[in-house]
Amino acid sequence: MDLEQKNYALEESQQFIFSVLASMSDLLVVCDRHEMIEEVNQALIDFTGKREDELKGTSLLSLFGESESFAAVKHVIARLATEPAHDLEFQFLTRDGGTTPVTLNFTPRLSGTGKLLGIVITGRPIGELHRAYHALRETHDELKRTQQQLLQSEKMASLGRLVAGVAHELNNPISFVLGNVHAMRRYTTRFKQYLDAMHAGVSHVSLATLREQLRIDHILSDLAPLLDGAIEGAERTRDIVDGLKRFSATDRNENVKFNMTEIIERSVHWVTRATPAKFRVKIRLPDDLPVTGSPGQMQQVIINLIQNAADATDHQAEPLLEVSAREENGEIIVLFRDNGPGIATDALDKMFDPFYTTKPVGKGTGLGLSISYGIIERHGGKLSVGNLQHGGAEFVLRLPRTSNS
Ligand SMILES: Nc1ncnc2c1ncn2[C@@H]1O[C@H](COP(=O)(O)OP(=O)(O)OP(=O)(O)O)[C@@H](O)[C@H]1O
Ligand SMILES: [Mg+2]
Repeated sequence: MDLEQKNYALEESQQFIFSVLASMSDLLVVCDRHEMIEEVNQALIDFTGKREDELKGTSLLSLFGESESFAAVKHVIARLATEPAHDLEFQFLTRDGGTTPVTLNFTPRLSGTGKLLGIVITGRPIGELHRAYHALRETHDELKRTQQQLLQSEKMASLGRLVAGVAHELNNPISFVLGNVHAMRRYTTRFKQYLDAMHAGVSHVSLATLREQLRIDHILSDLAPLLDGAIEGAERTRDIVDGLKRFSATDRNENVKFNMTEIIERSVHWVTRATPAKFRVKIRLPDDLPVTGSPGQMQQVIINLIQNAADATDHQAEPLLEVSAREENGEIIVLFRDNGPGIATDALDKMFDPFYTTKPVGKGTGLGLSISYGIIERHGGKLSVGNLQHGGAEFVLRLPRTSNS
C-alpha cells in the first residue's frame, strides 16, 4: 500500500516535470559531465528536427553548427564550476540543415560535495530577433532620411509660396526704373537735336524757338525727379533682394541671438505680399524680443503660422490676424489670434501631427505645424493651440527670453 502510494506520487511528479519541460519555449538540453545528452525538451526536438532517441546519448557538440564552437563550448564547460556562463551566442544546427544564432545559458549540476555531475543548458534562438532588429534599424534610418527630406521640402514649399509675392513686389520698382529710363531715352534725342542746332550756329531766335518746340526747359526740370525715381526703384529692388537673401538663409544649426520682433515683422511683410489684399495683420510687439537660436528656423515657424491664418480666414469678409507679445517670468509669449472658424475639438490634438491637413493636395502638406513644433521645442519653448471665446484660433508661442547682457 505504502509502495503503491509512493509509486503514484512518483508518477505524478514525473508527469509534472514532463509537462513543464514540454511547455517550455526555450530549448533545454541536459547532459552528463562528458557532454553526452541525457535529456532534451520538445522545443529542442522541434528546433533540431531530430527524434528524442536520436538526440539522447549523442554528444552535445553535435548540436552546434560550426566546428570552431566545439573548443569554445568545451572551454565554457571546463570552467563552469567557478565561472557562470550566461547569454553566450553560438550557432545551432536547424532542422533544415542551416544554422541560426542561439543564446545559451550553461548551469552546472553539482553533487552534494560540489563535484560536477553534468550541465543544464537552456537556449533561445535569436535569429528572428536579429533579423527583426536589423529590419527595425533599417526602417529607422530610412525614416530619418525621409524626415530630413521632408524638412527640406517643407522649407522649399514655404519659400516657393513666397515667390509669387516676391515677383509682385519686384515688379513695381522695376517697372518704375524702366519707365523712367525710357522717358530719359526719349529726352536724349531731343537734347541731341537741340545741341546739334547749337553747334551748327543757328541764330538765337531760331534756337529759342527750337527750345520752345522741343520743350527743353520742361525736360530739364523733369530730369531730376526721373533720376530720383530710377534710383529709388533700384534701391527698392536691392532691399527686396537683401530681404530675400536673409530670408533664405535658413541655416539649421545656427545659435545666435536675434530679435523676434524683427523676424515677425519681416515674415508678415513677406507673407502678406502673397496673400489676398483683404487679409490684414495687426502687429503689436515690443521693440525688442531677444531670443537665442536659429532665426532662419524661427522665420519658418512664423511664416507657417501667418500662412495658416491667411488660409483659415479666407472666407471671412474682413480676414484679420492679430500678433501680440508679452514677457512673463523670463519667457516671451507671442499670441497669434485670427478671426477664422477656429479648430474643431477633435482636430485640436491632431494639429501637430505630421501630414495632418485639411487643405487640398498641392496647397498644404500638413507638415508646417509638426515641423514648427519640433523647432520650438529645440529652442526650449512650447507651441500650443486653442480656440478664442468668440471664434477664431489662437496659437501661443512660448520661448525663453535671452538676457540683454
Ligand atoms: N489658424 C488656423 N485656423 C484653423 N485651422 C488651422 C489654423 N492653422 C492650422 N489649421 C489646421 O491645421 C492643419 C495643419 O496645419 P499645418 O500648418 O501643419 O499644415 P498645412 O498648413 O495644412 O500644410 P503646410 O503648412 O505643410 O503647407 C491645417 O491644414 C488646418 O486644417
Ligand atoms: Mg501650414
